[in-house]
Amino acid sequence: LRRPAVFKRLYRLQYCSSARACAKNVAAETELSVKKEHCGGKKSFHKVLEERKEEAERSLLISCPSNTCEKTFLQHLSRRGDVKKYFFYESFGTYAVVEFAKKEDVLSILETASIPYLQHEAAVPFKSRLLSLKTDKLGNMSNPRSSLQLSSQTSVSVNDLIKKLNKGYSIDQQLHLLTEAFQLTEENIRLRFLVCSLLRDIAASYFPECDIKPFGSSVNGFGKLGCDLDLFLDLDGISETTPKQVGSYSLEYQVKRKSTERAATQSILSVIGECIDQFGPGCVGLQKILNARCPLVRFSHQPSGFQCDLTANNRVAIKSSELLYLYGQLDERVRALVFSVRCWARVQGITSNIPGAWLTNFTLTMMVVFFLQKRSPPMIPTLDHLQKLAGPMDKSVMDGNDCTFVSDLTKVSVQNNTESLEHLLLGFFEFYGNFDFNKLSIDIRKGKEQTKPEASPLHIQNPFQLSLNVSKNVNTKQLQRFVLLCQESAWLAQQKAVAQPNNATGDVPWGLAALLLPMTAPAQSKKKRRDSPASRIKDLLESLKSSKSKDGSNVEKSSPK
Ligand code: GTP
Ligand code: MG
Repeated sequence: LRRPAVFKRLYRLQYCSSARACAKNVAAETELSVKKEHCGGKKSFHKVLEERKEEAERSLLISCPSNTCEKTFLQHLSRRGDVKKYFFYESFGTYAVVEFAKKEDVLSILETASIPYLQHEAAVPFKSRLLSLKTDKLGNMSNPRSSLQLSSQTSVSVNDLIKKLNKGYSIDQQLHLLTEAFQLTEENIRLRFLVCSLLRDIAASYFPECDIKPFGSSVNGFGKLGCDLDLFLDLDGISETTPKQVGSYSLEYQVKRKSTERAATQSILSVIGECIDQFGPGCVGLQKILNARCPLVRFSHQPSGFQCDLTANNRVAIKSSELLYLYGQLDERVRALVFSVRCWARVQGITSNIPGAWLTNFTLTMMVVFFLQKRSPPMIPTLDHLQKLAGPMDKSVMDGNDCTFVSDLTKVSVQNNTESLEHLLLGFFEFYGNFDFNKLSIDIRKGKEQTKPEASPLHIQNPFQLSLNVSKNVNTKQLQRFVLLCQESAWLAQQKAVAQPNNATGDVPWGLAALLLPMTAPAQSKKKRRDSPASRIKDLLESLKSSKSKDGSNVEKSSPK
């Protein structure tokens, strides 16, 4: 995979921009030392999960008529319990998430709820914490819809984001603006955990000791508003109990036997899926995808608007989520870079919503992590180093794989890397624009390239199941597109017209905003060569220059009058 000629010619420019970025590092350094101080205050992954779960168990999800009066609604709920927090949002109707001070408050409210009487249909009398608020005529009086403040659960469109980014004063700030615009909000995180808790109640009708835990981008710190909700049915609380011997006797449960662990997982997911489909209020469009490598049931939870993927026996994925969470917490530049790279990849068609030979968000995140481990000095430690820092409580072996690494963030010493985000983003494009994917494999455990053990176009070693490649699905064509787009973006990022915010009206894309303009997929065939990456980018630069000339904010500002 070779660099385009235009990229080679402009390679020297990279050092100029690197020097500029280095100067900015001095300023960044002071800011960084302040941020690093706060790392000690950050909670471990398990602590966050535990607190959020407990909060969700004290919460109700209530569908409200659009003319609900907030004050009357709260007064009604407060008669039976102590409302701690609440918010309203819209998804196929208006909903309220209400958190109470105690679980007993929730039980007390539920005592007042009734099963609806349906005139032409029949109700499945499954009681859950998803309720509907009914108002009498009095409650409906003069309460216009606009009186409810609705929390948004969707992210801005890329077009609106670009407008926002154009107003940024530096590329570093643009990366932070993008992260703020896309990341999950406090309310959205609460809603995600509440949906897990509601689904757990359904699964608990078969397995009372079970848990349903979120994993993936809902909890790893890299979730974008609107991302799916990955769920894991955890039955370990049931099977881990050791037999209690009384005298010479002990009892064990008679159980159904299945030929393999996978068959047992498929059977459990099938039944729980059926139960969610038949009895789960708000759960629609359930599909059982039980023959996948990792069997799952997929459905929409309408009241939250989440697409849910429920898996079981998938503990390694939880460990991956914990590891990514840890990396994201160690330095806030990690999240900013991942969000920006993911967004760039989406607009450039490198990732897709449709499963296929594309790179996935997870793959891209691993690539960012590896790139940051390779900086000099490294920004984040290798997984091997995190393993060395682990305490006895962190010990974790799954299916013979050692998944141990430190969970206490305060034990991970701060790295000395002070590069600016602008420098890192450019570095990412250059690193992968030049990476020898033919020969090398990406290994975040060692933080070093390894010789590729197999012929897949892209090889990223699964950090916990060493024989697996997390990017096995990616084909040569998609990898080439990624590499070429990295090269184009590195080139573009170094152009003066793109790299400087000298745009008085704020309507001409610059910096990160310019990188988020879709570049057409690089042409493969010779007859399409006229539309080469270089010529497309030249066109873009021409249009940027001419619009700048038009608005009077010419690029050549430095000439004295
Ligand atoms: P988005 O949903 O795209 O925002 O990101 P995500 O990280 O949640 O990805 P996804 O929903 O596709 O997968 C959920 C989780 O499953 C990931 O975070 C990983 O922990 C795990 N996962 C996904 N794909 C792979 C894979 O190919 N190999 C391994 N080992 N784990 C994967
Ligand atoms: Mg996901």
